[in-house]
Amino acid sequence: MKILAIETSCDETSAAVTENGRKILSNVISSQIPIHAKFNGVVPELASRAHIRNVNVVIESALKQAKINFNNFSDNIDYICCTYGPGLAGSLLVGIMAAKTLSYIYNKPLVGVNHIEGHMFSAVIENKSLKPPFLSVIISGGHTELVIVDDYGKYQFLGGTRDDACGEAFDKVAKILGLSYPGGPVIDKLADLGNPKAVNFTRPLLKGSWDFSFSGIKTAVLNYSKKADINNKQVVNDICAGFRQAVAETLVYKAFEAVDKYSLTSVALGGGVSCNSLIRKMFKERAAKNKVKIFIPSPVFCTDNAAMIAAAAYYKISNKSYKINNQISPKPSLGLENW
Ligand code: KG4
Ligand code: ZN
Repeated sequence: MKILAIETSCDETSAAVTENGRKILSNVISSQIPIHAKFNGVVPELASRAHIRNVNVVIESALKQAKINFNNFSDNIDYICCTYGPGLAGSLLVGIMAAKTLSYIYNKPLVGVNHIEGHMFSAVIENKSLKPPFLSVIISGGHTELVIVDDYGKYQFLGGTRDDACGEAFDKVAKILGLSYPGGPVIDKLADLGNPKAVNFTRPLLKGSWDFSFSGIKTAVLNYSKKADINNKQVVNDICAGFRQAVAETLVYKAFEAVDKYSLTSVALGGGVSCNSLIRKMFKERAAKNKVKIFIPSPVFCTDNAAMIAAAAYYKISNKSYKINNQISPKPSLGLENW
């Protein structure tokens, strides 16, 4: 089964062609970072305009890499899928319209995919052995969620962030420190040069709840930075190291509390923050200690990409109780739903 997937929920225009869920024939990603960097965050209207400029080029390029063109499309593509939420309304609309147009022209079924499910299934792409049940830890610019995947399309939502998403906190802390956007990668790099014990930020553990809260630690960085000399590179490196350490410890603590409580044996990470070197290391170490299997996607599948959307679509299509409905519209606040 060959799927053409389109992802435009935020600031990456991406298209992929996959075969049977895991074989990636192409996964083209066009990033808008240079457009949004000067605003220290994604500007929705600029994002939709850039998607409009990019979407056809990206789709054509993904098809070309998969040795498909608009003449042999019908014989080679079985399904078209696209992200329909959550995300920015205008951005989602561009991908949906492109997918609907191709679905209409070539008379192919259209599958709408939840962006969060895409992140959840990104770990499946490279790991045949990852099968439900597992704990999914979604840490991205817009989400921080702990979800038990009982089966494909059967979820138990444990908790999410009460304020800033994990990646959002990285981006805001970077802004406070005068660093570039997106903040996650740059903080990760500078933290390697700092001392994680130099500044001890409180770990927002919220014991007794599965929720997260990252705005307190962001404010703690702000207050600390007002008194510290942030023109001194070592001071900034130490703040980055202390912040990264606190976030990583919080995530590991919460995730493995859930693993223990629900007797889970596998954990999968997803979302852009799972590119973080310390988070990857600490999850691997803790999983080894607890004899739990850990699945962390390669960085290209952690950040927004269409291959992960195709992976989720593959399981939806393969699930007999899921009914395909070509009538898809943008759902900016879409939550996780069972199929
Ligand atoms: O999943 P993603 O590409 O987009 C959303 O769905 O939000 O995640 C983007 C987020 C940004 O906040 C970015 O700063 C963060 O992922 N990020 C990182 C790292 N690389 C990307 N955060 C921490 N450490 C990193 N190495
Ligand atoms: Zn995402």
